[in-house]
Amino acid sequence: MVLIEWSEELELGIPEIDQQHRKLVEMLNEFYTELEEGHQKEAVEHFLKNLEDYLHYHLDYEEKFMEEKGFPETDNHKKVHQMFKNLYAEEKQRYLEGDPKALRELVAFTFSWLFSHIMKTDKKYAEYLKERGLA
Ligand SMILES: [Fe+2]
Repeated sequence: MVLIEWSEELELGIPEIDQQHRKLVEMLNEFYTELEEGHQKEAVEHFLKNLEDYLHYHLDYEEKFMEEKGFPETDNHKKVHQMFKNLYAEEKQRYLEGDPKALRELVAFTFSWLFSHIMKTDKKYAEYLKERGLA
C-alpha cells in the first residue's frame, strides 16, 4: 500500500492553512492504514467523523480568512466548499442506508480534492493574497 505523501505542490505558504491541509492527507492515510490492518468498521467510522469535523473547522476557517483579507472571489470559493459539504451529507446518508459504493465515492472525492481543490482553487487565493502582501 502506498500512502499519500505531502508535497510542496500542496503547500500554500500560509502555515495555519497548510497545517490543516496536512490533516486531510493524514486522514486519508489513516483510513487506508486501518483498512489494510483489517479494521474496516473503525476505518469507516473514523473517516466519516474526521471528514465531517474537517469540513466544518477547516472550510469555515478558510472562508473567514478569505473574507477578512478581502479576497474578491470568496463567494465562488464558498460555493465549491458548500458542494463538498452537500456531497458529504448525501454520500453518508446513502452509505448508512446500505450502499457501500457511496463510501468509495466519498473517499475518491476527498482524494481528488487534494489535486483539484487545494492545488488549484486554494492556490488562487494564496497567490492573490501573497502578491498583495496580505498573507
Ligand atoms: Fe478551499
